[in-house]
Amino acid sequence: MTMRTAYRFFLAAVLGAAGASNAQTGMSLAKLSPATRQVLETRCALCHGVEGESASAIYPRLAAQHPDYLVKQLGDFRDGRRKSETMNEMAKDLSDETIRELAAWFSSRPPAVRRILDADLAAVGRYVFLKGNPYSGVAACASCHGEKGHGTQLLPRLAGQHPNYLVTQLKDFGKRERTNDNAVMHSIASKLTELEMHAVAVYLGGQQ
Ligand code: HEC
Ligand code: HEC
Repeated sequence: MTMRTAYRFFLAAVLGAAGASNAQTGMSLAKLSPATRQVLETRCALCHGVEGESASAIYPRLAAQHPDYLVKQLGDFRDGRRKSETMNEMAKDLSDETIRELAAWFSSRPPAVRRILDADLAAVGRYVFLKGNPYSGVAACASCHGEKGHGTQLLPRLAGQHPNYLVTQLKDFGKRERTNDNAVMHSIASKLTELEMHAVAVYLGGQQ
């Protein structure tokens, strides 16, 4: 093992530990009601994984996402306020209690270790994330989503999310196709260039 890889392993271990301590640890599958556990294992897990670490980039990662944000999105999918053919179907029969339990479960899962896929692009994205684009009037993402992209109760965590999913959501916000938005993300996303969207998504995808 070279010094460089040793350092990477060290960093990964430290960052991984920091991520885990953010989430409420100690939750186990056994704490879920049998009905919720069945929904989780036979339905949600197919696309999002039991641990919320979706294997495919088209399905958002749910691990360490804030519980209140998850509750809101699931309620919006169920009641049709947020449109998605797949998720409207998946959520249509969920009770408020099941939604609360699923949200508690996914938010308690620690995020896996991430890596940056394209360092040059990510450098542009880091600028947009921390400073916005003062020339076109885009606010810094960090001012709401937090310096590390960890979000707050009602503001989603973006760190470690699949870049493809982030780009899709930014485009949907821009075109007003994410129907449950609150106007804030529309005004921001509609000012982002194609390059800025991809750059900020690649940067975020590599954050822990
Ligand atoms: C067939 C695949 C599939 C299954 C099964 C599935 N989902 Fe999804 N899920 C998706 C897709 C695709 C999206 C992105 C929707 C969009 O583009 O708005 C999504 C989005 C979400 C989001 C929004 C995340 C965010 O960051 O805003 C949540 C929460 C979610 N799913 C939870 C669940 C839960 C809980 C279950 C089980 C009841 C479930 N999903 C089952 C495919 C799936
Ligand atoms: C003024 C506050 C604010 C700023 C600045 C902001 N956002 Fe957001 N963002 C929000 C809110 C609030 C939501 C949740 C919207 C909802 O509930 O549907 C959100 C949602 C999102 C989502 C959806 C996440 C998911 O899991 O589906 C993405 C992606 C996103 N923001 C990216 C960005 C990026 C990139 C920037 C910077 C260019 C940015 N945001 C700047 C407030 C903000």
